[in-house]
Amino acid sequence: MTRPTRVLVTGGTGVLGRELVPRLQARTEVRVLSRRPPPGPGFVQGDLETGEGLAAAVEDVDAIAHCASAADYRRPQRDVTQLRQLLEAIGGARPHLVYVSIVGVDRVRFGFFQAKLDTERLVEDSGLPWTILRATEFHDLMLTFLMRLAKGPAAVVPQKAQFQPVDAGDVAERMAELVMGPAAGRVRELGGPKVESMADLMRAYLAAARRRRRVIEIPVWGRLGAGLGLGGQLLTDDDRGSVSFADYLHAHTDADGVLDVTNR
Ligand SMILES: NC(=O)c1ccc[n+]([C@@H]2O[C@H](COP(=O)([O-])OP(=O)(O)OC[C@H]3O[C@@H](n4cnc5c(N)ncnc54)[C@H](OP(=O)(O)O)[C@@H]3O)[C@@H](O)[C@H]2O)c1
Repeated sequence: MTRPTRVLVTGGTGVLGRELVPRLQARTEVRVLSRRPPPGPGFVQGDLETGEGLAAAVEDVDAIAHCASAADYRRPQRDVTQLRQLLEAIGGARPHLVYVSIVGVDRVRFGFFQAKLDTERLVEDSGLPWTILRATEFHDLMLTFLMRLAKGPAAVVPQKAQFQPVDAGDVAERMAELVMGPAAGRVRELGGPKVESMADLMRAYLAAARRRRRVIEIPVWGRLGAGLGLGGQLLTDDDRGSVSFADYLHAHTDADGVLDVTNR
C-alpha cells in the first residue's frame, strides 16, 4: 500500500488529537474536523451528530483517524451515532479507517464501554480497510477523575481498582504509525509503563498538587466494581508506553512546584 497523501483526523482538537495532528503533519497532509469555526487552514467545520460538513471533511482522504467522541457517559450510544454518520458520508470511497478504543471494553460492564465495543463492531463491519487500537486511560483523564474524587474533605477512591494509565503522546505516536501504514485489523493494545492502584495514583496527585487529604478506599459493588477489581481495564499483553503518571505530573508542574490543572 502507498502511504496516505491526505488524512482526516476527527477529534483532532481533543486530548489525543492535539498530540496526533502534529505527528501526522510531519509525515503527510492533514485535515482536522471540528465543530468549532476553523482557526486556520487545514481545519474543516462539521458535526458528526448532525452530519453537517462531513461530505467536505471526507472528500479525497486516504485515511481517517477517528478520535472524536462525545465522551457522554449518560448517553454513550452517541459515539455509535457519530461513526454511523461518518460512514454514511464516506459512502462508496475506501479510506483506511483507524479507530482508537479502550482496553477492557469487552471485560468491564459499563455503558460507555459497551458503546465503544458497539463502535468497534461497526468499524469491523464497515467494509473499509480498518485498524483498531485499544489504549488504557490517558493520564489527563486520570487526573480529571482524581481531582473530582478529591473535592471533598477526604479523597475517596474505589477499593481494589487498578489502572495502567498511558500518556496521550505515547498513544498518538502509535496512532501516527498505524495511520501511515496499511490496514492492520486489531493491533496490540497499548498501556502505560506501570499498573497502580487508584489509591496510589491519588496519593501521587495529592502530593504533586500539595493538597493534604486523607485517602479513603470504598468498595464498589455491582458489575463495574467487579470489573475494576479484577483489573479488567489493564493490558492483557505487554505493549507499554514510556511515560508514567508520576512523569506526567512532573511534566505538568512548573518551576515553583505548582501543578497545572487548567481546563479541568
Ligand atoms: N481519554 C481516555 O482516557 C481514553 C482512553 C482510551 C481511548 N480513548 C478514546 O480516544 C478518543 C479520543 O479521546 P480524547 O480523550 O482525546 O477525547 P476528547 O479530549 O474528549 O476530545 C473529543 C473530541 O471529539 C470531538 N467531537 C465531539 N463531538 C463531536 C461532534 N459531534 N462532531 C465532531 N467532533 C466532535 C471534539 O471536537 P470539537 O469539540 O472541536 O468539535 C474533540 O476534539 C476517544 O474515542 C476515546 O474514547 C480515550
